[in-house]
Amino acid sequence: MTEVRSGDRLLSVRHVAVRYGDAVTALRDVSVDVRPGGIVAVLGSNGAGKSTLLRAISGVLARQAGRMTGGEIWFDDARVDGLGAERRVKSGIVQVPEGRRIFQRLTVEENLRVGRYGRKGKRDGDLDRVYGLFPVLGERRGRTAGLLSGGEQQMLAIGRALMAEPRLLLLDEPSLGLAPKIIDRIVDLLREIHRQGTAMLIVEQNAAVALELADYAYVLAVGEVAMAGPAARLRGDDRVRRLYLGGEAEQDPGGAPRPEAGAGPGEVYAEHTASNAGPMRGDAP
Ligand SMILES: Nc1ncnc2c1ncn2[C@@H]1O[C@H](COP(=O)(O)OP(=O)(O)OP(=O)(O)O)[C@@H](O)[C@H]1O
Ligand SMILES: [Mg+2]
Repeated sequence: MTEVRSGDRLLSVRHVAVRYGDAVTALRDVSVDVRPGGIVAVLGSNGAGKSTLLRAISGVLARQAGRMTGGEIWFDDARVDGLGAERRVKSGIVQVPEGRRIFQRLTVEENLRVGRYGRKGKRDGDLDRVYGLFPVLGERRGRTAGLLSGGEQQMLAIGRALMAEPRLLLLDEPSLGLAPKIIDRIVDLLREIHRQGTAMLIVEQNAAVALELADYAYVLAVGEVAMAGPAARLRGDDRVRRLYLGGEAEQDPGGAPRPEAGAGPGEVYAEHTASNAGPMRGDAP
């Protein structure tokens, strides 16, 4: 199929398939678009392929023994799926990884400086911007990052990503493990970052959070797009409410997607799920 490229898409994921090793097909034929200035949410249960999608976009699949086996990824009218992760960061695609992955033993400010990804020069304006958005990080700039609270660590992970000057910020479950009040603050901060000009692709199991932020949303189920539409429409959709928002469906929608169903690849990789719940790690992002 020939795709017509169009300037109204910042990111265009076309028919992407991903496998881990030889046995696990994590994505099959997934297409997702982000418009300039858009906030797009990707919802889905454990193992649906949300993190895999972000890894394919940011170019870090190989670190997990994964690879794209089909499809294309375009950013700003350039094909990027053949590029290494650092090249993609330099082009403006920056990921805040699942589980935050800050450097526990470095200070807050050292973590932020790492986020520059080799951008040289007198960039302390970037630090000032991050401290402006997250005053608490400024107050704690000399403190060991591992001593921060969970919410502060999430802010640090987002702040570190901002240091690379993203045009598209990829967020993997930014609400994970945080108290509702802290989640509200993170949501406000993400809104502000968006208002300042950064498009976002946000992956969440917490559909309420994601649909509150996003203007458009996709539901992934067992490696495929099961639903897509304006966020406002998905918020009102019976299947979404029943499966992801904990709400009551007004009627039985029949062929509703069952993302958690079946002996899909989700059961193969239990370790991944376990690591979600584990303590923050101090290894590389
Ligand atoms: N490194 C890996 N090696 C093998 N299989 C993997 C690996 N990472 C993910 N998988 C498998 O690929 C599928 C998609 O996983 P992925 O982590 O993308 O899901 P997810 O939607 O992010 O789930 P969660 O909500 O638990 O974070 C799952 O079946 C998972 O078991
Ligand atoms: Mg995930």
